[in-house]
Amino acid sequence: MDITALTSGKKDLFDNYLHAYLAAEGTSSGIFEAFAYSLKAGGKRIRPVLTMMACECLGGFAEDTLPAGLAIEMIHTFSLIHDDLPALDNDDLRRGRPTCHARFGESTAILAGDALIFQALSAITAAGYPPRTKLDILEFMAEVCGVKGLVQGEYHDVTAEGKELSMDEVRDIYRRKTARLFELCMFTGARIAEGDPEQIESLVGFGTYLGLAFQAIDDILDVTSSREVLGKTTGKDLAQGKATIVKALGLQESRRWARDMTEKAVDLLPAKHGTRVKDLKALALSMLERMA
Ligand code: FPP
Ligand code: MG
Repeated sequence: MDITALTSGKKDLFDNYLHAYLAAEGTSSGIFEAFAYSLKAGGKRIRPVLTMMACECLGGFAEDTLPAGLAIEMIHTFSLIHDDLPALDNDDLRRGRPTCHARFGESTAILAGDALIFQALSAITAAGYPPRTKLDILEFMAEVCGVKGLVQGEYHDVTAEGKELSMDEVRDIYRRKTARLFELCMFTGARIAEGDPEQIESLVGFGTYLGLAFQAIDDILDVTSSREVLGKTTGKDLAQGKATIVKALGLQESRRWARDMTEKAVDLLPAKHGTRVKDLKALALSMLERMA
């Protein structure tokens, strides 16, 4: 099934929640404008959608994940604002629009990113989850984002420019800079549904493999797709000497690797997780269609 058809209902649910949040929190300040601009830019909202699907597949309700899904989308948006800055990837186009710093200037973009981290924390603390659930989500979030997680992945990504990395090293970058956030989505949805440790572990494992496949596909599309289709600059990994899977393995092997990771993800979804597991499977398979 096409990824848009599969996710549109949940995406709309999330976008409506986001717009209500922005209307309630809104101020006329310049920093709020930059903050809201990047959050509204959108995309497929894969992370909040995954969080909903993880919760539903264990018998929970998609609506219950919205505050936590918003927090994860804020962390993701923050990471993209900073990733696009001149000191990192130096990109001027994201989701078909000027990047935050291209539109508002570098200092405002840095501050909008900073604000997103702390708004993410309060989205969770203000949610109606039991205190232990909030603490578990915050603990997992801090771990995946911190100096061994996203920050380390991004650091390695930036410092590896111009170097020849092995596939193991590329995988490590992908795990930290991308897959760990997918793990957070799966953990959060499963935790809100009060899944047991075994269920949570296999759903987090699904997040790992799906995130690895996602980043591989992203890097394949940087070579094979266009600025018009993706809404962001293409061909820049090669231009910047990025250490990607395409550089390590070539296009054909990279596609095979992405398929392999997707299969491993799907294999971690046993039927005992409930009938809703089919949506997670379909989402994983539809991601592969993007690279076809
Ligand atoms: C996009 O990858 C960037 C990331 C997946 C992660 C960016 C991470 C940071 C800026 C570290 C700080 C983050 C947190 C949450 C603490 P890409 O450049 O390969 O993709 P692109 O083509 O979409 O830019
Ligand atoms: Mg980038």
